[in-house]
This record gives sequence, C-alpha cells and structure tokens, in this order.
Amino acid sequence: MADTARIDISIDTQRPGAVLNKNIYGQFMEHLGRGIYEGVWVGKDSPIPNKNGYRLDVLQALIDLKVPLLRWPGGCFADEYHWRDGIGPRNERPRTVNSNWGGVIEDNAFGTHEFFEFAELVGAQTYINGNLGTGSPKEMVEWLHYMTSDADTTVVRERKKNGRERPFKVDYFAVGNESWGCGGNMTPDYYADLYKQYTTFLKAPENNQPKFIASGGTDVQTNWTQTLAEKIKRSGNVRMDAISHHYYTLPTGDWETKGSATGYPEEQWFSTLQQTLRMETFITDNVAILDELDPEQEIGFYVDEWGTWYDVDKGTNPGFLYQQNTIRDAIVAGLNIHIFNRYAKRVQMTNIAQMVNVLQAMILTDKEKMLLTPTYYAFKMHIPFQDATYLPVNLSDTPLYQHGDDAIPALSVSAAKALNGDIYISLINTQVDNAVEVALPQVSQVKGKLLNSRDMDGHNTFDHPDNIHPTDYTATEVNGSTVISIPAKSLMVLNLGQL
Ligand code: AHR
Repeated sequence: MADTARIDISIDTQRPGAVLNKNIYGQFMEHLGRGIYEGVWVGKDSPIPNKNGYRLDVLQALIDLKVPLLRWPGGCFADEYHWRDGIGPRNERPRTVNSNWGGVIEDNAFGTHEFFEFAELVGAQTYINGNLGTGSPKEMVEWLHYMTSDADTTVVRERKKNGRERPFKVDYFAVGNESWGCGGNMTPDYYADLYKQYTTFLKAPENNQPKFIASGGTDVQTNWTQTLAEKIKRSGNVRMDAISHHYYTLPTGDWETKGSATGYPEEQWFSTLQQTLRMETFITDNVAILDELDPEQEIGFYVDEWGTWYDVDKGTNPGFLYQQNTIRDAIVAGLNIHIFNRYAKRVQMTNIAQMVNVLQAMILTDKEKMLLTPTYYAFKMHIPFQDATYLPVNLSDTPLYQHGDDAIPALSVSAAKALNGDIYISLINTQVDNAVEVALPQVSQVKGKLLNSRDMDGHNTFDHPDNIHPTDYTATEVNGSTVISIPAKSLMVLNLGQL
C-alpha cells in the first residue's frame, strides 16, 4: 500500500482545452435481455406505472440524469434489425428471434417511433445504428429517408400514417456495428468499400443531417482507424464524421472467466481498475493515427461502447448480460470519464454499455422495482462537466496504489469550467484502504458530493436501494489552503466557484 502524503493541486485556468461534449455521457440501449423490454418499455397496459408504455420511474431517473444521447437499436442486434419490422400497428408487427441475445422472441413492440418518442421524453439526442450486416443499401437508405425527410414520398406518407407528421431528428447514424465480429466478420478494407458504397446513397435534408459514423476497431486495434482514415476520403457524397471504437473492462481480461460483479478479492478490484486505465493507450494510439491522416481534425474518435463486463449474475439468462454494479463500477466510470476528458478534441461522444439492466447499467429493475446504481451516481455527479471546458491540472506528486508487483495511480483528477463559469474538479481515490489528502491553494471553499463505500463491493439491492448514494461534502480554507481528505474507494466532484 502506498504512503499518502498531501498532494498540492493547481488548476490552470489560463490554458483552457477542448469543450467536453455533453455526448461523452451518452447511453446505449440495445434489444438485449431486459434492457428495453421491462427496463424501459412495459407497454400501455402494464400494471407498472407508465406514460405511453414507458415506465415512469426509469423515465424520471433518466430525465434527472440529463442523459444527452441515446444509441439504439444495437450493438450486435443492429446488424440483424430490419426497421420495417418495428413500424405500424403493434399487434401486426412480425415476431422474430433475437439470435444474438438469448434466442428470445422479439415482438418488435419497441421500434422507430417508440425510440424517438422516448428520446424526446428523456430530452436526449439520438444515435441510430444502421444494419450493414444483413440489410441492403436500399433498406438503410429508406430508413434514413423515413426518419428525416419531409418530401411527399410514399415512405414519408407511411411515417405520417404511422402517427408522425414531422421528421424525427437523427443526430448520429452509424453504418454497421463491430463489423470485425458480430457485424459480419469483415476486414477493414472490405468494410471501407462497403461504407463508401452505402454512404454514397444515404441522403438526409440539409437541416436534418446526422453525423455519419464508421464502425472501427476494438481494444488494442489500430488497423481499423488506419485503413478507414486512409481509404475513406471524405469528399462529395462520401461522409465519415467519426470512427467508433469499443473497449470493455474485464477484471481478468479473459472472456471465458471474466470475474464476478460482487464478492471479489482486492486482486480483482485492482486488476479491474488497471484494465480500465488501458483505455488511455487505446485512445492515444488511434488518435495519433488520426492526427497524422486527418490533421484538420475533421474525424472524431467515438468510444461508442465501454464499461465493465462481468460473469452474469447467477441464475440469470447468460444471453441477457445482467450484472450487479458496485462502487468499483462507479470508480471505473469516473476513470474513463477522466480519460475521455483528456482527449475531448477527438472523443466527442461515447456510450456506456448499457443504460438499464445490461452490463454496467445506470438502473436495475426487477419487475415493478427499480434501483439506481453507483454508476448512475457517478454520471449524475459529473453533470456539470457536460459541455464544460477542459482545464489542465498540475499535481505536486503522483501517489501510487501498489498491489503486488504492480502499481496504478492512486489519485485521478479532472477539472473543467462549467457553462455557468464555475470551476469543477473530479477526484478519484482508487485505493482500497488509504485516504489521499489533497490541498487546493487556489480556493477558499468547496462544496460538492462524495460517493464512497465501506465495503469493496458496496452496492444497492432491491431491498436496500440506498446503500450507496452521494453525500454532501464541504471544506473550508485553513492557513491559506483548502485541504480535502479523499477517502479510500471514492469519487468526489466539487464546485470550486469562480477562480
Ligand atoms: O454491449 C453488448 C455487445 O457488446 C454489443 O451488442 C456488441 O456491439 C458488443 O460486442
């Protein structure tokens, strides 16, 4: 265990960096397990209180979270999704099999109109993932036309007949998902050619243009970024506004035995955080390629799937990817957010996987019951960082959390100037036992929230939904410096006022 001396922190307000796009806090909702059905959509006739079929408790929690962006319908599901299955009278929609996730029946009750109505209720922007794997250019072109156009075409008349007069607003549109794997096992070269073919024909009105996203690589891969940035020259009718990348945190790094969501030893607390921090290298390696091939900085690097992935909860359908969520997940979320902030020039959008009941969720439900996870609170505490401006931070020392022969930083810090002019600082102590003391010589008073836990796997349950929640934190200046003790296993977001 490391010694925890006092660290001086200064925030450089004179050298502001990039704007931290609010869409760094984007959410992902896939037709997977109970992510949408039960988690979001219960139908109008459900005994669970709902508005037009959307469960009210979840809806309110997402509104409170100021979710900026929703990605739908997948994931792997996207490349088997045929949008026409999800429009028209619900009782006439086809029943299909969700072959990616548990082989369950998909009754298509939640389709295009339900998604956009939900996004409007939440107040979020929209990210549609198109089907490259099993669709066709015609199918994708017509979907985009159906959603965005106001022309008097047969397809638009159909949308109007289905109850939506005005076009929907599509903010982002991706051509395929994980095309190296579940999206078709393609090579980057083959995908690049398909991407050009499809995007040549994808048309949306001038005032309703989405950003077009190419499906990129995963983990350590850089070959997708390299090939796509080299081969897809953005001119005329081919657009590529961003390349997406996926990286999941597995405690063991082994897909066969990933590690448990609760009841883990310190070794897996440590390895989970260590695995999370690899995100920074993956981003820097890919961004270095983009900096060379796209010096005008026109192509974004979007991490549109990230988060923890554990062995599923005992007794649950393995295809549903349901897992508990502890203080460790909140720390993982905070560390990732700090990394995204550092590369915000390119990383203008990310989606944690996934919003409700799947993987590193914000919200868990059990029929009519609902709970908010520690990850929900980590996101909520960072709301002031949405659209804030990055500020560099200097530390007088970088304390280490030593475990066996390995070490990671014991302290992670990120600061920003919020839209209202206040400076916010986010502080994470990764250690299991030791507090970290920091001094902020620039400020006389701080107020904010602290999220921590006595237990290494502290979490909320349906019987005790309030075990882990943020508490108020205040500190004042003593002898010219505000000193803060950051407890072990904790995340803090503090308002420092206007410096
Ligand atoms: O988030 C679960 C799955 O993980 C997604 O469907 C897929 O894109 C990724 O492999």
